Amino acid sequence: MADYDLIVRNARIVTAERQTEGDIAVRDGHVVEIAPDLKGSGAREIDAGGKFVLPGGVDSHCHIEQKSGMGVMCADDFYTGTVSAAFGGTTTVIPFAAQHRGMSLRQVVNEYHEAATPKAVIDYAFHLIVTDPTPQALGQELPALIKDGYTSFKIYMTYDAMKVSDYQILDILSVARRDGALVMVHAENHDMIQWLAHHLVEQGHGAPKFHAIAHARIAEAEATNRAISLARLVDAPLLLVHMSEIEAIETLRQAQKKGLKIFGETCPQYIALTADDMDKPGVEGAMWCCSPPPRDSAAQEAVWAALKDGTFQTFSSDHAPYQFNAGGKIPKGDKTTFKEMANGVPGIEIRLPMLFSEGVQKGRITLQQFVALTSANHAKLYGLYPRKGTIAVGSDADFAIWDADKDVTVTWKDLHDNVGYTPYEGRQIKGWPITVVSRGRVVVENGKLNAERGSGQFLPCASPDSSKPIGQSAPELQAMSRFGLKPLF
Ligand code: URP
Ligand code: ZN
Ligand code: ZN
Repeated sequence: MADYDLIVRNARIVTAERQTEGDIAVRDGHVVEIAPDLKGSGAREIDAGGKFVLPGGVDSHCHIEQKSGMGVMCADDFYTGTVSAAFGGTTTVIPFAAQHRGMSLRQVVNEYHEAATPKAVIDYAFHLIVTDPTPQALGQELPALIKDGYTSFKIYMTYDAMKVSDYQILDILSVARRDGALVMVHAENHDMIQWLAHHLVEQGHGAPKFHAIAHARIAEAEATNRAISLARLVDAPLLLVHMSEIEAIETLRQAQKKGLKIFGETCPQYIALTADDMDKPGVEGAMWCCSPPPRDSAAQEAVWAALKDGTFQTFSSDHAPYQFNAGGKIPKGDKTTFKEMANGVPGIEIRLPMLFSEGVQKGRITLQQFVALTSANHAKLYGLYPRKGTIAVGSDADFAIWDADKDVTVTWKDLHDNVGYTPYEGRQIKGWPITVVSRGRVVVENGKLNAERGSGQFLPCASPDSSKPIGQSAPELQAMSRFGLKPLF
């Protein structure tokens, strides 16, 4: 009888805090011991041969089996989405349970569980997307759902079918502040985009490349500043998702310098693509279209600077998978203008290798920063740490063994999503996770999946520290309480 279920020997273990060398012992899905030359035997033993063993990635921004605002179902369900994630070294995903207007949030959450439970092969939690903050949603559903482990919400400042007003944002931030949830915001100025898009399309400029013109930089910068101001008014923490733009990033950096609890996320498309990628014949450029759009090399440099100096806490995929066909990315086929294209690019599998190759291998970030940006910080921000996001005694045994020297030419045929293309076709990547372990199960090995449909588990999230206010709302709000008004939140 073996002492452990699994031992990974000769590992160069890297967490966000430190690098060590040793053996990792796993029992019942947990790490139970880490030591050099560990005594005892494992029912299964893997010799990592001095390779890096990193915590499994946590992808806290991915869209799986979700309908877009325009009602287009994305291409990956909870099986293909999580299989693809696993092959890219990710062992936890936090996709969205997306409310569309008129829906009960509780009902939405139940439906996403029905979809995920029989299919997911790795562990998952859910953020809520809140588009309809009715008195029922604000007063009953959100407080109850937070208690049940749904401790983060995404809100949109743009998209006709999704956007909430500034007034509604204040309502949502107030509930999140009071009950311990973190709000994530898609910050783009809706009216700027609509106005630009209207005039572009009216004058016949509907091709995908004009998406980047309509989604002007200033639209992201303005909305970022406004979102931060709304959060400041009520002293609520906030996380800005998929940041792409120089001025917005600087606004985030300055807010953090003031001591505000404002967090930032970026994604592979903002280090690896530019608006020029959308400049293709016909509607082909739609394959590179996401919001905010990829910008230019100067913006890429600003994104790298913010990854390096800690302005960004997370590097997520924003995997938003749509097949390039009539009904998918381009609902009306060749007649589709950028206004009707489904927004988003796939990236759940390429997220970690892309940052490893472009960031660690090229000396832009350290390996420990890589772990923080792809795993540890996600778990911390969303109430899953230290169960996820690290390799430590007591944590779930989620890790990826990396071959840092493996050269890969990216091609969609070798990926495992259901999208039919990758925006990174032909890119050269150095370094890939070759063996992936999820709760002690070796789910990817020798290019093969070894995980049953439905073997992933739901993870209720704790109320995270990131959601705690700093104790400093706007002076006017403090003054209001001196007038004897009952507390606003
Ligand atoms: O273009 C994007 N990012 N599509 C996915 C939905 C979202 O806004 O995150
Ligand atoms: Zn978004
Ligand atoms: Zn997204």
